[in-house]
Order: sequence, then C-alpha cells, then structure tokens
Amino acid sequence: MNDVLPAEMGAWRHLEQVARAVLDAYGYEQVQVPIIEHTELFKRSIGEFTDIVEKEMYSFQDIGGDSLTLRPEATAGIVRAVISNGMLRGQRHKLWCAGAMFRHERPQQGRYRQFHQIDVEAIGYPGPDVDAELIALSARLWRALKLERVQLTINSLGTPAARARYREQLVEYFRAHESALDEDSRRRLLGNPLRILDSKNPHMAGLIEAAPLLSDYLDEESRLHFAELRAALDSMGIPYVVNPRLVRGLDYYSRTVFEWITDALGAQDAVCSGGRYDGLIGQLGGEATPAIGFALGMERVVALLRQSGSLPAASVPDVYLVVSGERAQRAGLRLAEQLRDALPGHGVMLNLGGGNLKTQFRRADRSGARLAVILGDEELDRGVAAVKPLRQEGGQIDCPVEMLAERIAASL
Ligand code: HAM
Repeated sequence: MNDVLPAEMGAWRHLEQVARAVLDAYGYEQVQVPIIEHTELFKRSIGEFTDIVEKEMYSFQDIGGDSLTLRPEATAGIVRAVISNGMLRGQRHKLWCAGAMFRHERPQQGRYRQFHQIDVEAIGYPGPDVDAELIALSARLWRALKLERVQLTINSLGTPAARARYREQLVEYFRAHESALDEDSRRRLLGNPLRILDSKNPHMAGLIEAAPLLSDYLDEESRLHFAELRAALDSMGIPYVVNPRLVRGLDYYSRTVFEWITDALGAQDAVCSGGRYDGLIGQLGGEATPAIGFALGMERVVALLRQSGSLPAASVPDVYLVVSGERAQRAGLRLAEQLRDALPGHGVMLNLGGGNLKTQFRRADRSGARLAVILGDEELDRGVAAVKPLRQEGGQIDCPVEMLAERIAASL
C-alpha cells in the first residue's frame, strides 16, 4: 500500500484529467459505488476458484455479523448497483468509476495490496460494435497520454457452454500429463483448469503450448462475434495480437477478452484489461443483460507515464505576494483574495508566516512564480504595490492597487 506524495500527484492528476476527457467524449457517465460489499457478491461474480476469491480478499465480519469484503475490483459493485437501483429494464448504461481496490497479493514491483483502477463498463450492449469502440477508447487514451509501449492482445472465450466443452478436453489433456504439472496447476485442475494456461512456470511452457486450443471449441456465434470485432479493429487501424492463451483471472467473462500489455514494467505487464460478461447480470439476479468493460491499473499507467517522460510541467503559482510590515501583512490577505477574484485561473500565493524580505524572496523564487508583488506599509500608505519579474530581467515598478490585476495579467 502506497502513500502518494505531492511530487507524484501530478502524474495521477494528469491521468485522471485525460481519462475524464476521453470518457466524456465517448458518453460515459461517472458513478461511485461502495468500497465494501457483501463477500458473497465477489464469490458469486469473480468465482469461488479464482486466486482473488481463494486467497486475496480482505474479508471481515462486521459487528452485525455480516461477512464483508474490501472490493478487489469494481465490476461486481457496479453490476450490483445497476440491479439494486432498478437501472436495467431494457435500458443501456455507459458508466465509469475510479478508486481504490484491495487484493492481498504477494507484494512486488507494480503489484500492490491497495491499488487504484479506472473502471469502465458498457451495460446493455451486445456488441461487437461496443467491444470495438471500448478498445478504441482505450487506444485513444494511450495516444492522449503519449504512451507508446503498450500492445493490445485479444481473445474470445466463447459462450459458457463452449467453454465447458473445452474445459472437459483440457482437464483430460492435463490429467494425461499430471506428473508434469506443478503444485499450483494440480490444484487448479480441479477448480479452474483454464487458469493453468496462465502459468508463468517455464517448466510447464511446453505442456501448455501443446494443450488444446479454446478457439477450436468456439460456438459459431462467438466465432462470428470475434471475427466482426477483428474486422472493426482492422478498419479503425488499431493493431492487435490474438493470444489464444488469454483467459483472464476472473470467472465472469464470455466471448471478447482483451489486455493492453507493456514490456516496460517487468513482470507485471498488464496495464489495462477487461472483457465481455454477458452472463453476470442474470447470474446476480438482474434481468439477463449483455455487458462489457475494462479496468486500467492507475499505478501501472502512472509508472509508464513517468518512464516515458510525457508528463506536463508541474503547476506553479503565477504570482507570489511578498508582504512586509504589520499592516501590510494584514492587508496582504485581502489583496491576495482580490487578485484571485480578478485573475481566475491564475495561481496567487501569499507569503504566510512572516519572514524578512530576503526570506520571502527566497520562498518566492522556490515557488516558481513568475512575478512577485511586494506590499509594504509604505506602499500601503501610498495605495500602490510593487511588481517585479522573477524569471527575467527587470526592475521593480510601482502600480496603483486598483490597476494591479490588469498589470499582472498583461505581464503573464
Ligand atoms: P483485472 O485484470 O483483475 O480486471 O485488473 C485490471 C487491471 O488492474 C490490471 O490490468 C492491472 O493493470 C491492475 N491491477 C490488478 N491488480 C493489481 C495490483 N495488485 N496492483 C496494481 N495494479 C493491479 C478487473 O479488475 C476487471 N474488473 C476488469 C473489468 C472491468 N472487466 C470487465 N469490466
């Protein structure tokens, strides 16, 4: 779990602002859902035999005796909200939220126990048009952030029935090679055999390589859906790689799944991932509604932003108000407010906590401000303040207080 200090916050704000603008442009509306939900919700949506539910959830009993869990992801909560607020009934929603998620994973570079996602969901859309548009949205986000080292991988998981047929074949195949399986995979063979395909164990690479392919078991409709998605991506000029081994770590997916991966962050290569979950809403008690979404890991995108150096300059005040003398200090508070009123969008920093002129000018310099405004008791009596450029040559010029905002605006 990380503290995000001021020096890093610029990258976070930049990501948030750019994402917000892109999501607005595609008609997504922001929502907020609780950080805590009933444990049961995550078990039923993410799946009993997933890593997240088996070993990564922060669950506890509240004083009422309910089992609650800090959300490990946002999709389940959004689906719960859409159902419990009666938002279905044939309606469609494009929603997004941002916030902290919690998974008790083994901590390592890029993998945290409290991390943040921007989560985007399109509910009530059968696709494949929305699948393509959602991917285009994410591609636009990378362009807007000037991130280049990301690559799109896609796959189709088919319908649950097709996946069940495939699962049987896969179990049969791995059973026949059980002695070659590592401990993790042996455990997964019973609960979640598809996840064996995700194993990073190099000793199992050959075995996995030769395993049956899900694409050979896809139902006709899913095959068509996937072909149309690929054609749409081609027509928009969005490059992708089909990865037949991409299965995702949550159980609710059907048909389209995708991941944006990077080679710039070491082992944690997924910066953004998601897919279609046509069965989930019905499974959680809502009327059957198709849906698709993705979430991006904000820490990972911030790390990429920092690496690529494509961050905007940190924001600095425009004006630093130096105040010397007892009366001028009191008048300074009022003058700073007047300047803030008159110069919306500009930063006005008032010297707080006293200090002699030398100290105040040192602070003004460190603040990065382009202009200093100097107000002393003597200036106050004359109804003027002095303006002095801090980043270029130029002397101090007195200016009547009522003209000050105009003069500052002209110099900035
Ligand atoms: P997920 O793949 O579990 O999917 O997580 C989405 C993204 O969150 C990952 O690609 C990664 O960037 C980031 N992430 C996950 N775990 C961590 C961690 N421990 N530390 C840092 N970043 C992490 C979901 O959560 C789905 N709810 C996505 C979705 C939305 N599918 C449909 N709609």
